[in-house]
Amino acid sequence: MPKKPQPPTRVAIIGTGGMANWHARYFKKTRGCRLVAGVDTHPGRLKAFTDAYAIPEAYGSTAELLLKSEIDAVAIVTPDPDHKAIALECIAAGKHLLCEKPLALDYPDARSMARSARKAGVVNMVHFTYRNWAPLQKIAQIVQSGKIGEVRHVEASYHQSWLVSKQWGDWRTSDKWLWRLSTKHGSKGTLGDVGVHILDCATFPVGPIRELSCKLKTFRKAPRNRIGTYKLDANDSAILTVEFANGALGSIQTTRWMTGHLNRLFLKIAGTRGSVAFDSKLSETAYQICTGADIETDTWQTIEAKATPSIHARFIKSIRTGQPDQPDFARGAEIQKLLDASFKSDDLQQPVRIR
Ligand SMILES: NC(=O)c1ccc[n+]([C@@H]2O[C@H](COP(=O)([O-])OP(=O)(O)OC[C@H]3O[C@@H](n4cnc5c(N)ncnc54)[C@H](O)[C@@H]3O)[C@@H](O)[C@H]2O)c1
Repeated sequence: MPKKPQPPTRVAIIGTGGMANWHARYFKKTRGCRLVAGVDTHPGRLKAFTDAYAIPEAYGSTAELLLKSEIDAVAIVTPDPDHKAIALECIAAGKHLLCEKPLALDYPDARSMARSARKAGVVNMVHFTYRNWAPLQKIAQIVQSGKIGEVRHVEASYHQSWLVSKQWGDWRTSDKWLWRLSTKHGSKGTLGDVGVHILDCATFPVGPIRELSCKLKTFRKAPRNRIGTYKLDANDSAILTVEFANGALGSIQTTRWMTGHLNRLFLKIAGTRGSVAFDSKLSETAYQICTGADIETDTWQTIEAKATPSIHARFIKSIRTGQPDQPDFARGAEIQKLLDASFKSDDLQQPVRIR
């Protein structure tokens, strides 16, 4: 008997603002799934989004979606403070989840999301976007294979410049940027916004961090440091010095003030037998490596990395095969633990041990 084809996995996107476009494009090109619903509390944005991607169903809340729609999975793309409540609601309804980063607002919340998802047996993944980048996957393989020897030193940075540029719109007049600058609106600043990516990029190949020191800085950006209801008090810049569990030292930094770099990721991992690096300003598809005789002459080879499946493709595959994949909620919670430790270290002006 020929096997009956599996019906497509039905997906809803919750939160139809800026980043939802990315999710829609990726789900549209992923085989085995169908985008069936959009959810947003803002009716205008919801309509524009569902129209743009020909999504048949539109709802004003997650509760309405879960009541009326026959979906298998959700992508949670709302601002950070809403991730936890929406995730728990969807987990209780047995839905698989792909959640935006940062997973939650702190480690206890992120851990409870990871535990609930595990208990319910639903596929749970965090959208650490740069896992889609082939050079990062290749670098992780190289480091973990031992090809560069024992890791001794790591340099990692994620730089943006939207506080000094209008390339992505004017942050002074747009809610989509202003909430990111305000702790009252649930933002963890640049550390929570893009620092999570670079923490993931550094620890994915090298392994866990056992101690860190962090200095955060918030610059004055408006009269009384306020625009409308937004108090602009979330961190703009973060610099961490870290010790990894394997003994290597590292510096990890992020800022929105790196004029001249709209969105640049840089990672260099040096070991006793070689070094690997990637610099998104040079290429998003190639990595650099210096090993063997090249070490003596400071010669670096640039190598194109073989394309890697997207997080969306792996999420849908996990649902369809029942095989979990990474990065999952537990991984999201581990990164959240590093965020909490960074805030604590900045407060105490002391190194913090990660337990
Ligand atoms: N992985 C990445 O590289 C990346 C990049 C950008 C943003 N993000 C993350 O994506 C999330 C959304 O960011 P964005 O830039 O799209 O923000 P945004 O402000 O552009 O859009 C958020 C949307 O969610 C809607 N919303 C708010 N509360 C809601 C609720 N309870 N139910 C349904 N809809 C609700 C808003 O009306 C808005 O349309 C954030 O967590 C952010 O950190 C991730």
